[in-house]
Amino acid sequence: MEHYMMNLTLKVWRQKNSADKGQFETYQVKNISSEMSFLEMFDVLNEDLIREGKDPIAFDHDCREGICGMCSMYINGRPHGPWHANTTCQLHMRAYKDGDTIVVEPWRANAFPVIKDLVVDRTSFDRIIQAGGYISVNTGNAVDANAIPVQKDNADKAFAAAACIGCGACVAACKNSSAMLFLSAKVAHLALLPQGGPERKTRALSMVAQMDKEGFGSCTFTEACEAVCPKEISITNISRLNAEYALAGLGSDNKQ
Ligand code: SF4
Ligand code: FES
Repeated sequence: MEHYMMNLTLKVWRQKNSADKGQFETYQVKNISSEMSFLEMFDVLNEDLIREGKDPIAFDHDCREGICGMCSMYINGRPHGPWHANTTCQLHMRAYKDGDTIVVEPWRANAFPVIKDLVVDRTSFDRIIQAGGYISVNTGNAVDANAIPVQKDNADKAFAAAACIGCGACVAACKNSSAMLFLSAKVAHLALLPQGGPERKTRALSMVAQMDKEGFGSCTFTEACEAVCPKEISITNISRLNAEYALAGLGSDNKQ
């Protein structure tokens, strides 16, 4: 499609801090190129706001290439916008046409409190990882790459689960604010590999306990998470997590 320019109306959630009630503000953005990324469009809007002496809109970003998971924006009712298997930073303005109105909100979940505007606190995910999303290895020497054979099918499934970037879109899309897709990706990734063995008996129990403590909701298998995941994490990982959880509960040597 040909490159084109457009003028847009943006309704953006503005919130000073987690205690502030927050409200939508309406902005007109002009001369936006169809080839700009969604975040570049926000850069243009923020430059305008700064020029006018106004507070720019706070939003998270880092890599701007679909890797870091920072760019959490709820766009016209969908996490990361309208494109399938895509992050906000990879969304381009050719997804819209001249005159469109775009509504942008932060992730909404009790476990992701708003810090400012579109920036939410996702350290609850970090604490879930700290509870068990790691392996214990002796890092003293580099081992031969073939020293631990991994079955191809398991390697592929582990690799697919490891693609989770911890963005939180799955939580934002879920009516229960469940973090089960995220957690299942992290548990499955390690459960499928021999290196994940040493902590296997405690990992699922510890991480699920931390998830509950953080205030995420229960999974009722609506599948909304899988539909919006930018990395196409499969809900089959949730079945694997449930199996790991059951196994951990049966283990006589687990300390939970
Ligand atoms: S499972 Fe998908 S949507 Fe959820 S945190 Fe990981 S990458 Fe993001
Ligand atoms: S800014 Fe890193 S994934 Fe979007």
